Amino acid sequence: MRKKIVAGNWKMNNDSKQTSALLEELLAKRPEKTETKIVVAPTFINLQAAVKQVAGSNIIVAAQNMHQAESGAYTGEISVDMLKGINVNTVILGHSERRAYFGETNSLLAEKVNTALKHNVTIIFCFGEELADRQSGNHFNVVESQLKEGLFHIDENQWANIVLAYEPVWAIGTGETASPEQAQEMHAFIRTLIKDTISEKVAEETSILYGGSVKPNNANEIFSKPDVDGGLIGGAALKADDFLAIVNAI
Ligand code: G3P
Repeated sequence: MRKKIVAGNWKMNNDSKQTSALLEELLAKRPEKTETKIVVAPTFINLQAAVKQVAGSNIIVAAQNMHQAESGAYTGEISVDMLKGINVNTVILGHSERRAYFGETNSLLAEKVNTALKHNVTIIFCFGEELADRQSGNHFNVVESQLKEGLFHIDENQWANIVLAYEPVWAIGTGETASPEQAQEMHAFIRTLIKDTISEKVAEETSILYGGSVKPNNANEIFSKPDVDGGLIGGAALKADDFLAIVNAI
């Protein structure tokens, strides 16, 4: 059975006080018996305190990135061992903002994937097309390349550590959510691609999240689609009630 997951990507938001306050509210209001995996991704500086604050709860803390090297002269970067050392065992990789602003390529992401898997870290692997790709009907090719060049080199048994997050760039932070039908169409394409390239078992067992302007008022319809297994949430993750409304929408 595929895992249902709702993950909040906080991006560069919330100082230590704001992080603590938001987590406190999430801890107080979260559904304790849900099967849905609840993930929050604060900024690096707040990860250790966040892990301590949610300890013993059903909230998982993830990092928003990591470097591909194990250690060394990479000023300002964070290694996988540094994350594991504070009990962060989940990392978002390949977010479109990192691809766009920090030049992350499919081949660089393949290296990050290898390092994370070598250390048994769970990866939320992000990908998605630009508006121009969709307008030209090239969106399936773009997504296929991102997956094949960034992720499909891994061994079949390593897929147990992979969660996919399809995030059409034109829907991120814009309020222009993909329609449930658009999300389902791409998720079904991805699942078929995995089935044809990797295996039917991996295709069936891999959770595929949708991200891009998911809000309390559209989450249920998107999540009701057969190949949508949850969401990767940006803006709405910064308000406890909105984020939990999305968690409860699955
Ligand atoms: O990683 C999730 C994020 O890119 C989606 O952002 O604000 O459109 O929910 P938002």
